[in-house]
Amino acid sequence: MISKQTLLNVVADYEALSSLAAAEVIRQVKQKPNACFCLAAGDTPKGMMRYLVEAQRRNEADFSQSHFVLLDEWVGLDKQDEGSCQHFLYTNLFEPLQIAESQIHGFDAKADDVEEECRQINTTIKELGGIDLTVLGIGVNGHIGFNEPGVDFTKEAHVVHLEETTTSVGAKYFADQQQAPEQGLTLGVSQIMEADKAVIIASGANKRPAVYALLYEQVSSQCPASILRTHHHFQLLCTEDSYPNYEAM
Ligand code: PGA
Repeated sequence: MISKQTLLNVVADYEALSSLAAAEVIRQVKQKPNACFCLAAGDTPKGMMRYLVEAQRRNEADFSQSHFVLLDEWVGLDKQDEGSCQHFLYTNLFEPLQIAESQIHGFDAKADDVEEECRQINTTIKELGGIDLTVLGIGVNGHIGFNEPGVDFTKEAHVVHLEETTTSVGAKYFADQQQAPEQGLTLGVSQIMEADKAVIIASGANKRPAVYALLYEQVSSQCPASILRTHHHFQLLCTEDSYPNYEAM
C-alpha cells in the first residue's frame, strides 16, 4: 500500500515531468529565496534544469541567494571531467544560472582522503540548516544518489562500492568508457530523509521495476528509494511509461 504521505503524480511524458519538477523547485525558491537544494545530476533531471534556467531568464525565479549541495560523485572525478555529476550540474544548471562558488557545497571526490570529504559535507549541511528540497532520480536498481541496495539507512555521507548495474548503466555519461568508476561518494539516506521536502522523478520503461518496488513492495534497503514512503513530505513524479501497471502485475 502507498502510505498516506506519498503523493503520486503520473504525467504523460518527459516534458510534463520536467516542467512539474521545475515548478516544485520554483515554488520553493519563491517561498524561501535562500533555500538549500540538493538536486541530482542525470538524464532524468536534465529537462527540469532547462525549465529552471528558462524561468530565471524570464525573471520568474531567482536563485541568486540559494544554496546547492552536491548529492553524489564518482570517486576520482571532479567538475573538469566530462561524465562527472559536477560537470553535469555546472553545465546544465550552475553556469547558466550564474550560481557563485560560495553557493555550491560539494565534496572533492579526487581528494586523497575522501572520508574526510564526507565528514566535511556532513558538517556543511548542518551549518546550512539542512536541505529544504531534494529532487532525486531513481536507479534501475532502486538507488537514490549512490545509496545502493543493502545500504544502511542511518548513514550520512559515505564512500560506496558501486553495483555492477550502476557502473554499466553509468557508462552512458562517459563518451569513451564501457564502465563508470567503481566507487562513488554520496550523501546518506539519513540526510535525504531529513530534507524538508523530497521528490523523486522517474521516466522511461526501464525504471518501471524500480518504481514498482518503491511504491508497492515492503520498505526495505533492497530498494533504497522505498524509504521515501516514510518521509513526511514526499512526492513521486513519474511518466506513464515508467509507472507500473499495478493491476496487470
Ligand atoms: P538517470 O539516473 O536520471 O540518468 O536515469 C538516475 C539514477 O541512476 O539515479
